[in-house]
Amino acid sequence: MSLTNTIAPHQDFAVYVHWPFCLSKCPYCDFNSHVRHGGYDETRYLRAIESEIAATAARIGTRTVSSVFFGGGTPSLMQPSTVEGIINAIGKNWTLAGSAEISLEANPTSVEATRFRGYRAAGVNRVSLGVQALDDQSLKELGRLHSADEALAAIAVARSIFDRYSFDLIYARPRQTIEGWALELNRAIAEAAEHLSLYQLTIEPGTPFFGLHKAGKLVIPAEGLARDLYDLTQQVCADAGLPAYEVSNHARPGAECRHNLVYWRGHEYAGIGPGAHGRLNVDGRRYATETERKPEAWLDLIDTNGIGLTVDEALQPGEVADEFLLMGLRLTEGIDPKRFTALSGRSLDPRRLAFLMDGGAVETMDNGRLRVTPSGFPLLDAVVADLAA
Ligand SMILES: C[S@@+](CC[C@H](N)C(=O)[O-])C[C@H]1O[C@@H](n2cnc3c(N)ncnc32)[C@H](O)[C@@H]1O
Ligand code: SF4
Repeated sequence: MSLTNTIAPHQDFAVYVHWPFCLSKCPYCDFNSHVRHGGYDETRYLRAIESEIAATAARIGTRTVSSVFFGGGTPSLMQPSTVEGIINAIGKNWTLAGSAEISLEANPTSVEATRFRGYRAAGVNRVSLGVQALDDQSLKELGRLHSADEALAAIAVARSIFDRYSFDLIYARPRQTIEGWALELNRAIAEAAEHLSLYQLTIEPGTPFFGLHKAGKLVIPAEGLARDLYDLTQQVCADAGLPAYEVSNHARPGAECRHNLVYWRGHEYAGIGPGAHGRLNVDGRRYATETERKPEAWLDLIDTNGIGLTVDEALQPGEVADEFLLMGLRLTEGIDPKRFTALSGRSLDPRRLAFLMDGGAVETMDNGRLRVTPSGFPLLDAVVADLAA
């Protein structure tokens, strides 16, 4: 297997750092997040993260880091000195580009907003706030610890400190109407600068919402209304100069989250911290990595091995190509079919392609790239399954 077969000619390299703790567990969330009422030793986690960064660098060698993303869990529970220590460790083991985007996911409580200045001093240059809703009743139902006013205040603090900030909202919530969402979305856009993440509520197996939904106690918008809410979201954001660049992400052109683009473009990223996923290019092969999810067990692995890996699998060319499709077709920029061919050793099936094009689900752009059309996006999973099979 030659290098060019599995790896794109130019690849950004990103580092994802997972902070796995939250103050409480939101009933819809299936992210790797843990509540530790007895507290935890933050310095020990910092040392362990430093160790995992060094071990990963020893394995893959030199890289220039184009972005770092602190995700969670709730990274805004970290002391700024911990964030600084992690950024320093990344800079010590790799080359941190001067232009690197360094994002941190923050929950918008007043306590967390007081740390924003410290994060900026530590090197963070972009925050992403988990606002979720702008009305108190919804926030309560979502199990959030902040009010709408507190979230707006946190956005104002973010705006005063960072040139780049984004926030997340969840829509298609119980009892949500088109009119209600239109008002909320316009309110959000008035607060937004360059980027917004707008997620449709997903009922994730294993969460309290899943049980309630199954028992008929949590009713979410039916398919037709959910589709109308999605269409409205696309329209309102595009009209406001924040078009979708990915299924759930909207930005002014040029203000896309560079870190997330690394995932969707199939570039390379290291996953650091409990339950982090990575895709590493080593000796011409692409490896899928995962670390131990449970924080304490991850610490034990670090103590023994210096790294918390539980999965470290060389992907087959077909798997790399399918993943490239799955991730790349989420983007409005679409994919380069030639790269799919280079990765998989086969062209996209012309008959399937023609079928999807006739149905208006995908289209070829003037630059030769293939993308999902706006009307195809709600059917994205089916489109990808059709092309990948
Ligand atoms: C890792 S999570 C949360 C980060 C941060 N702890 C917070 O809650 O603000 C990233 C985002 O995923 C979204 N999210 C999580 N679970 C979801 C679900 N079940 N349906 C839709 N969006 C979800 C939320 O908008 C959340 O802000
Ligand atoms: S949504 Fe955020 S705060 Fe809530 S449990 Fe998940 S990661 Fe933690």
